[in-house]
Amino acid sequence: MVNLAVFCSGFGSNLQAIIDAIRSKKLKVRIALVIADVPHAYALKRAQKAKIPTVIIRPKAGEKRIDYDKRIIEQLKKYKVDYIILAGFMRLLSKYFVRSYKNKILNIHPALLPSFKGTHGVRDALHYGVKIAGPTVHFVDEGLDSGAIILQSALKVRDGDSEESLTRRIHKEEHKIYPRAIRLVIEGKLEIKGRRVINKK
Ligand code: GRF
Repeated sequence: MVNLAVFCSGFGSNLQAIIDAIRSKKLKVRIALVIADVPHAYALKRAQKAKIPTVIIRPKAGEKRIDYDKRIIEQLKKYKVDYIILAGFMRLLSKYFVRSYKNKILNIHPALLPSFKGTHGVRDALHYGVKIAGPTVHFVDEGLDSGAIILQSALKVRDGDSEESLTRRIHKEEHKIYPRAIRLVIEGKLEIKGRRVINKK
């Protein structure tokens, strides 16, 4: 069985979607571990409820990113983790970390990349005036929200949309495409050709 670690900092609705997909047998993996960088992440409660081991790794004052990441890697080895699923994890990973898990780290972003990278993807897209919005699942490379794209989902922006209403609809899409993307990756269905992620023949 493939072992996932899900990294979270907040609400954990994507973690929940993955837990639910496993429960309903749409996804045949095990979440071996949920890692959070902050103790108040609600995602931790969701994990505990689902009887998934949790580890809180808080950054120490003055700690270098790479040293923090090495503490994470220790846990990943301990739990024999194969793939890392970033789900609202609010820290950047070091190059060292990304190289150690090349093409094994996935992230979900609430905008159609490469537009609106960074922390406020939905807000930035709305302010820009886009008519189509939606989430992106991508592999994590050494840049910010810049890795090869696995899945995207497009939805129409409505005239009356606020950041909140659009975020809500985008989240619903996230919960559909993240488990789907994880499945494609772990089942070995995809091939990475340069920046393009395509279905294996
Ligand atoms: C999502 O909007 C995701 O796109 C972004 O962080 C948010 C996490 O939400 N990377 P949740 O914690 O899964 O509810």
